[in-house]
Amino acid sequence: MESQRIIFTSDPGRALAELIGGIAFDTLFVLCDTHTREMSFPHIVESLPPSARVIVIDAGDTHKTLQTLASVWAELSQHGATRKSLMLNLGGGMVTDLGGFAAACFKRGIRFINIPTSLLGAVDAAVGGKTGVNFNGLKNEIGAFCPADAVVVSTRFLHTLPHEELLSGYAEMLKHALIDNAETYRSLLDFDLSAPDWDRLLVLLKESVQVKQRIVAEDPFEKGIRKALNLGHTVGHAFESLSHRQERPVPHGYAVAWGTVCELLLSHHYLKFPSETITQLAAYIYRHYGAFPFTCKDYETLYELMTHDKKNEAGHINFTLLKAIGAPVIDQHVDKEQVFVAFDLYRDLFKL
Ligand SMILES: NC(=O)c1ccc[n+]([C@@H]2O[C@H](COP(=O)([O-])OP(=O)(O)OC[C@H]3O[C@@H](n4cnc5c(N)ncnc54)[C@H](O)[C@@H]3O)[C@@H](O)[C@H]2O)c1
Ligand SMILES: [Zn+2]
Repeated sequence: MESQRIIFTSDPGRALAELIGGIAFDTLFVLCDTHTREMSFPHIVESLPPSARVIVIDAGDTHKTLQTLASVWAELSQHGATRKSLMLNLGGGMVTDLGGFAAACFKRGIRFINIPTSLLGAVDAAVGGKTGVNFNGLKNEIGAFCPADAVVVSTRFLHTLPHEELLSGYAEMLKHALIDNAETYRSLLDFDLSAPDWDRLLVLLKESVQVKQRIVAEDPFEKGIRKALNLGHTVGHAFESLSHRQERPVPHGYAVAWGTVCELLLSHHYLKFPSETITQLAAYIYRHYGAFPFTCKDYETLYELMTHDKKNEAGHINFTLLKAIGAPVIDQHVDKEQVFVAFDLYRDLFKL
């Protein structure tokens, strides 16, 4: 698959003006949520034609629904969108997922550009072509593979992002570095996220997005190596689901950070991943993300939740593990007993 066009810039307004100047379209639509309408839209408004129409949806993943999707289609229809219209999705992963899917289906597909405004959106959701909405209580149950025509990535938007959201996206950057190379991984551990140097973060973000881009270009439909991007997510999703069940929800990236530690413990057992690296990462995660508390009474439930993962095949839980930093091994089957041992070790490392 051809690589998606991704522009990294400290001046998103200018990059966008150049980009849309090169596209023939009739009407321009901008999809925002209530937060990005207020905090991110001002950064691009001057680059838009006066006729641009803004569509605002409610913020938050609970609104990533068919109902919101239908409201976006209704607005596009009412305001005369045609197959030649262009849509800009300005927001976090919720907006780019829902907006991408809205554009992919409207009149069998209109062009769209993603402008991620959250770190998680920039490093993960806005690139790679997965779009969709939640349905029937299930995350991303309805959707399509449909890459944006272009993605404009800038740290300019991140200044207004709550710190917790910044950390959440940073966990995906750590994941990309772990599956790709030790040097980037070390630069990430050294970066000061509490007082970010935004230009430096843009450089790190570019390296991180390129990891995802390379992997997606090789395997766009997740038949093989794209599964490497699931590192931390098998256990991470179980933590995330448990946190929702117990009504103490944690951000996705936090769950991924804790899940990564557990999966590296499994990697140590099965593939001899170095234990010093795990201890170092666990200390970093503990310092920045705290701990996800659970007891041995939760082990069965967590395991049960893992068996529901979309990525499983033929009754096996499918893990991506690492032999070393930069050496992922996909489709690993793991014994239940070892998962419980990893939970014990995790609880030791996180002082639980
Ligand atoms: N398509 C993919 O490959 C992919 C990958 C990972 C995650 N996702 C999806 O992405 C979503 C999570 O992404 P997210 O964390 O960006 O969620 P989000 O879009 O809900 O954003 C999180 C919060 O931050 C706010 N926000 C966004 N940008 C802001 C800014 N610049 N300033 C202030 N507030 C801002 C949002 O309004 C929201 O309240 C989930 O729906 C997940 O399923 C998709
Ligand atoms: Zn993730």
